[in-house]
Amino acid sequence: METDLLAKAREYEAKYGSLITAEERPVYHVTPTVGWLNDPNGLSYYDGKYHLFYQYNPYATAWDTMHWGHLVSEDLLHWKRLPAAMAPAEPYENYGVWSGSAITAPDGRHLLIYTAVEDSLNEDGSRKFLQTQCLAFGDGVNYVKYEKNPVITPDMLPEGSSSMDFRDPKIWYEEEEACYYSVIGSSTEKYGGTVVLFRSPDLFHWEYVSTLDKSNNAYGYMWECPDMFRLGDTDFITFLPMKMFAKGLEFHSGNNAAYVTGTYDRKNHTFIRRNIFSLDYGIDFYAPQTMVTPDGRRIMSAWMQTPETKEAVMPGAKWFGQLIFPRELSERNGKLIQRPLRELEACRKDPVFYEDVCVMDRTRLPGVEGRSVDLTVRIRPAGGEMYRKFIVRIAEDEEFYTSFTYDPAESLLSFDRSYSGFMHYILSERKAHVRYRNGEIELRILIDRYSVEIFVNDGEQTMSNTIYTRQTAKGISFEAAGAAVIDVEKYTIQL
Ligand code: FRU
Repeated sequence: METDLLAKAREYEAKYGSLITAEERPVYHVTPTVGWLNDPNGLSYYDGKYHLFYQYNPYATAWDTMHWGHLVSEDLLHWKRLPAAMAPAEPYENYGVWSGSAITAPDGRHLLIYTAVEDSLNEDGSRKFLQTQCLAFGDGVNYVKYEKNPVITPDMLPEGSSSMDFRDPKIWYEEEEACYYSVIGSSTEKYGGTVVLFRSPDLFHWEYVSTLDKSNNAYGYMWECPDMFRLGDTDFITFLPMKMFAKGLEFHSGNNAAYVTGTYDRKNHTFIRRNIFSLDYGIDFYAPQTMVTPDGRRIMSAWMQTPETKEAVMPGAKWFGQLIFPRELSERNGKLIQRPLRELEACRKDPVFYEDVCVMDRTRLPGVEGRSVDLTVRIRPAGGEMYRKFIVRIAEDEEFYTSFTYDPAESLLSFDRSYSGFMHYILSERKAHVRYRNGEIELRILIDRYSVEIFVNDGEQTMSNTIYTRQTAKGISFEAAGAAVIDVEKYTIQL
């Protein structure tokens, strides 16, 4: 069975994936071999290489019965496509092999832990989608499902937990205890979304340990794709609160990506929450997952799209779905700092620098344009007087543009892709509170052909957005209401 479905997917992607040219893809962002991609899965370092899997439907640019796509890399920048790693072949996963993570097993095999979804009928004829956690072992290319799957089932959860919303195991190994742990997303009748902790001495036998944090009906009914890690003196849990109400400018309505900071008591396995924040202030950011590199950096990937905008496929597209450019995580003042993976710096070509340029009317600077760009702009008031607004436009031509506008009086940074040439009526604007830092605002803007990611004030906040503007729209311009002074640092990114 497995061999049939997997062989079919591998054959299909080999045939149709090779028809997609490099020019039709982003320069430095990951896309599926062919068809649809959502969450990054199984981000890990195995046998001398980075492995990255993803939720994958090769057959259409739409979400459907999930497979796992697969890529490997030596530097998290240049990726080589491998054949699909898993197909939904077993009866207990007939609705898809959903998100999960990876680790090296004690015997040296690569272990994938994932959510299997089984579509069956209740006695009254209604459909049930049972979600269980399963294992597959492999050599970095071919994977075999564990014959005693599943290893974690919803009946192991506290009473009142859902069996249809229990997914996305993120595994790690605790050296000191010689024990595996996994956080898993869950949903309860009483409290809404929760993050639960499981542990196993051997990967095969698991037990429920504790509930680390919960929505308390304030942050959605279900928490998907949890992850937990420590940076500095702070413990972080990232997760996706589903179907929540908007809260100020921090969270929009619907499905969000959030993180809580706090203290995890490693003995009693309790988590005391200090704060909750949005993980990204753009429109297209969902399903993050982290890993630690051999040199000790905590790296995060994520799906650069959301369930809300998943229909926004451009006509004729052969692929749909991108991942963010990998980010290095650190902690500053109890908050998460996200910076682009430093390896990108080796791919910066054709530097262009400007210092102390006074901007009033819409200004273009020679050499500052392009659709594969690493651009940093530092914005200060000219003289003593604060400007009223500062606008950066990118992917601009006579008809289209995407803009970032900073309003210092309101401390607001607004993203707007309303005029970027989308053929769908979708969410196009988002605003975030952004404060001055050392007398200026710094925006590092990573433009790739179909996206723009912005890093505010050295990674204090990020905004991830897709744009599908025609590639000939390459302009970048600056404009101030009042007068502002800027420094600009611009590179072309070439892998
Ligand atoms: C998040 C998610 C996960 C699930 C997967 C299914 O985007 O809904 O919770 O495992 O996608 O594709």
